[in-house]
Amino acid sequence: MKLLENKWAFVTGSSRGIGQQIAWGLAERGCNIIVHGREPKNLEATLARLKTFNVQTHIATGELSTSAGVAQIITQAMAAPGPVDILYNNAAVQTKYQSIFAVDQAEWDRVFQINVWALIALCQAFAPGMRERGYGRIINLTSGIADQPNLAVYSVSKAAVDKFSRDLAAEFKGENVLVNFLDPGWLQTDLGGPNAPGNVESVLPGALVPALFEKGGPSGRFYGAQDYKDLER
Ligand SMILES: NC(=O)c1ccc[n+]([C@@H]2O[C@H](COP(=O)([O-])OP(=O)(O)OC[C@H]3O[C@@H](n4cnc5c(N)ncnc54)[C@H](OP(=O)(O)O)[C@@H]3O)[C@@H](O)[C@H]2O)c1
Repeated sequence: MKLLENKWAFVTGSSRGIGQQIAWGLAERGCNIIVHGREPKNLEATLARLKTFNVQTHIATGELSTSAGVAQIITQAMAAPGPVDILYNNAAVQTKYQSIFAVDQAEWDRVFQINVWALIALCQAFAPGMRERGYGRIINLTSGIADQPNLAVYSVSKAAVDKFSRDLAAEFKGENVLVNFLDPGWLQTDLGGPNAPGNVESVLPGALVPALFEKGGPSGRFYGAQDYKDLER
């Protein structure tokens, strides 16, 4: 079913892992895709498969680790042939595994810049246009990670993502801009590592659920992609 035909989705970190699956899953439903990774060469595999879905594509490259990089990414995404209707803030980094007492300020700054400040900047850039056009779906990737003090920087950054998503959803109360946050499950990716119980393909179709909500659908809520395993792909 081509439920997203003629829409444009911007998926950060769609060069590999979960973002790549989300980009392909959206394209299978007819959605045009703005693909993002740090370097153009990182996008080749994603783009090669996107070609098979008969959708339009556009490229945004750059670093989320600096505000200049984020600005560059926003400028490129805004130059796509269509406006961003669906924003997946997917790209993120894991923290170093170390004692909660040993984490220095530089590590908090590094992880928060990529996982939180960049995500907020992207929402600020694209959400007002969604409001003007009367349609928008924002899905911020979070984590169901258990209390693990040695990975606290990552977990706390995701807690910030959850709260920001709820606040942004409240800003759009009653409007057709829905903001939700999604836990993909612990999956075998570069970030998740080889010991994760799930394969990356299992993020579909659940990861697409918040992008497919109709007007008046849920907003400000947590979704677990693995809770929708039985849905038809
Ligand atoms: N995998 C899991 O088990 C798991 C569990 C819970 C939540 N999540 C969340 O799911 C999302 C995707 O994770 P993943 O496992 O797919 O990660 P991944 O395989 O490590 O892929 C990370 C993606 O983010 C991009 N990226 C990384 N650092 C960047 C930076 N500094 N600037 C710009 N782009 C950057 C990468 O681009 P390049 O290819 O160009 O480097 C890549 O596309 C994240 O938000 C993560 O926290 C994952």
